Amino acid sequence: MKRILIVGAGGQIGSELTAHLRGIYGNDNVVATDVRECKFLSEQGPFAVLNALDPHAYGYTVNKYKIDTIFNLVALLSAVGEKDPQLAWNINMGALMNSLDIARQYGCALFTPSSIGAFGLSSPKVKTPQDTLMRPNTIYGVCKVTGELLSDYYHSKYGVDTRSVRFPGIISNVTLPGGGTTDYAVEIFYDAVKSGRFTCPVPGDVYMDMMYMPDALDACVRLMEADPSKLVHRNSFNIASMSFTPEIIRAEIRKHLPDFEMDYKVDPVKENIARSWPDSMDDSCAREEWGWAPTWNLETMTADMLEKVKAKHEKGLF
Ligand code: SER
Repeated sequence: MKRILIVGAGGQIGSELTAHLRGIYGNDNVVATDVRECKFLSEQGPFAVLNALDPHAYGYTVNKYKIDTIFNLVALLSAVGEKDPQLAWNINMGALMNSLDIARQYGCALFTPSSIGAFGLSSPKVKTPQDTLMRPNTIYGVCKVTGELLSDYYHSKYGVDTRSVRFPGIISNVTLPGGGTTDYAVEIFYDAVKSGRFTCPVPGDVYMDMMYMPDALDACVRLMEADPSKLVHRNSFNIASMSFTPEIIRAEIRKHLPDFEMDYKVDPVKENIARSWPDSMDDSCAREEWGWAPTWNLETMTADMLEKVKAKHEKGLF
């Protein structure tokens, strides 16, 4: 990776991945793009407004900046996707198809995240294997499985260097996620700090894999820098670091904020989605093939999130 383009850089992952990659590869070598102007990204380094669904503008940007690696982060998430499945398909698959064709045309490596959402009710729930039955029942999951297959196809058919991980719910404190089923695990921290109370939209007993942002960023770099001769898989690797239920994270937050209260107003769409996803994924292939090794767990992540979110609150940022 020498000249990097991030598409959809204004979202939860992109806003931190941009700064992370600029720290490693140099500000000028990481071009951030989003469908909207993003001041915090354009102040640090090159930025362009780009609609990833416009192949001409996309190709022009890749050519202009002499890009060799693309991170395609454009996606509607799971819960919002259920409100307009056709729109979710058009955005998620449109951005992926353009990314694949442009990566092929300009000889770029391409990273597109997959998700725990690629699995469904018929996948094994505990320690979900790398290679198993995948029959998701959300449009988000259908896009992710299709995306994995297409990315492998572009690799075997055209030699495009496509790589991907199946992200768990990502917990972070810079940019909020939007429209996902795992968003509760971020929102809980903001509400705990602000009001000491949280109303949870996901039932208290549902396990889902989660990951703290620093580990997610490390996964992107490690996988894209991995020796291709060691990769048996490409699209997409299970990665995991912690799995918990709303009740478990409530108890963890109460260790720091003993008065914290949580009640439930379960959203049936999110419940259905959450119950169809794995409790925990088996990430042994990622560990073996490219050295995946997370550093954060529930305890350390909770302590760090509370510290960072409190600091934001004290500065009046929410
Ligand atoms: N965080 C995503 C969602 O909840 C899953 O990858 O939709």
